[in-house]
Amino acid sequence: MFSEAEIAAAIRSLAEQIARDHAGEDVLLLGILKGAVHVLSDLARELDQIQPGPSRLYLDVMAVSSYGNASRSSGEVRLIQDTTHAIEGRRVVIVEDIIDNGLTLSYLNALLSARKPLSLRSAVLLDKPYRRIANVKADYVGLTCPDEFIVGYGLDYQERYRTLPYIAKLRPDIFSDPD
Ligand code: IMP
Ligand code: MG
Repeated sequence: MFSEAEIAAAIRSLAEQIARDHAGEDVLLLGILKGAVHVLSDLARELDQIQPGPSRLYLDVMAVSSYGNASRSSGEVRLIQDTTHAIEGRRVVIVEDIIDNGLTLSYLNALLSARKPLSLRSAVLLDKPYRRIANVKADYVGLTCPDEFIVGYGLDYQERYRTLPYIAKLRPDIFSDPD
C-alpha cells in the first residue's frame, strides 16, 4: 500500500511540521509501543537534521494495548508501561503509527494532559478517518490510509509483519495461521 519511499517522504513531512512548531524548544518525542518504534526512530533522526528545529530532542516510550489479538479494537485501552521522563513542564509530541477509532489517542491525551505538559501535540504516520469513536484529531498526519487493515513498518497482525520495511494490506482470505 505504501512503499519505503512514500513512508520516508511522509516521515520527512512530519519532521518539517514538528520542527516549525517547536523551533528553539526542547521536545520530548514520546513513541507508543510497539507499533510506533520505526516511526519514532526514523522521525527522531530526520528531525535532528532540520534547521531551524527543536533545540534538544529527548526520546521516551510508553506502551498501551487496545487490540488484544483481534484485528478489531476491543474499545478498551490499557496502560502497559509508563514513561521514564516526567511530563510536567515539557513540550511533548506523542508519536503513533496509526489512528483508527481514536480511542488510543484520546486515552493518551487525557492521561498526559493531566500531568501538565507545557504543550502536548500528536504525530501519526497513518490516519484512518473512517471509524472514529473518539472525537480526536492528530496535529500532524503523514498519510491518509484507505479503510483496510494494514501491516508492516511497525503495524502488526497478531504480532506478525512488524518488521516489513513497507506497508501492505493484510489479506485475511489468504492468511492462514501456522499456530
Ligand atoms: P485506535 O485506538 O483505533 O485509534 O487504534 C490505534 C491502534 O490500533 C494503533 O496504535 C494500532 O496498534 C492499532 N491499529 C489500528 N488500525 C490498524 C491496522 O490497520 N493495522 C494494524 N494495527 C492497527
Ligand atoms: Mg498495535
